[in-house]
Amino acid sequence: MIKLGVNIDHVATLRQARYVDMPDAPNVEPDILAAASACERAGAQGITVHLRADRRHIRDRDVFRLRRSVITKLNLEMGNTPEILETALQVLPDDVCLVPENRKEVTTEGGLDVVRNANALRRTVERLHAGGIRVSMFIEPAPEQIDACAGLGADAVELHTGRFANVMPEFRVDEVARLETAARYASEKGLVVNAGHGLNYANVRLLLPIPYWNEFNIGHSIVSRSIFIGLESAVREMLQLLAPPS
Ligand code: PXP
Repeated sequence: MIKLGVNIDHVATLRQARYVDMPDAPNVEPDILAAASACERAGAQGITVHLRADRRHIRDRDVFRLRRSVITKLNLEMGNTPEILETALQVLPDDVCLVPENRKEVTTEGGLDVVRNANALRRTVERLHAGGIRVSMFIEPAPEQIDACAGLGADAVELHTGRFANVMPEFRVDEVARLETAARYASEKGLVVNAGHGLNYANVRLLLPIPYWNEFNIGHSIVSRSIFIGLESAVREMLQLLAPPS
């Protein structure tokens, strides 16, 4: 069964919309730990958060508190900067997913260019591994990027599904084929194969026939649905989609 990591960044986005200047106010809501527990109660296999350089949603304090309370696994998405790396090594999440980060983007745009940034990434991978943290890299589904991840000793790749999610329906099959080819190649290279970005209750079905997935990381769509049906139910609905037909 494909595991589900729920990205709860946008629970923090909602909090920051009101309490950005009052992080210690007694009435701060919604509570990020309560959100993580709701996802876990519903059966999610992991909690994912992205500590961005501008701290626009998740804050350092959130990550430290989540580390203490998450009982499944904590996946920290981060850019490869010295400051965030030091924080990750203090938090010691179960997994780190290295992502590209551009301050002006609304959300993570392209995949990490591991080929071009191999030298800068090598030491980061070594330091994270020394801390006992598994390392994934968020990449475009391209063989040269997969080769570079394997060459650096990454444990996993997270294939960027943004293009698949955003293309017009007539081009979807091409994107599914591209993802399948990349997922197979990564799996043959011994990498754990995850996927994420832009996945939702409608499009996720198209990826289910690909047999190589370990985990999907899904955030925006689940948090959006939770406004109408609650977070636990929204997570349960997604888990039902990911469960193999009986
Ligand atoms: N995986 C990675 C690496 C991401 O950067 C994001 C967005 O923060 C996600 C998964 C989740 O994407 P979405 O919110 O579109 O489901």
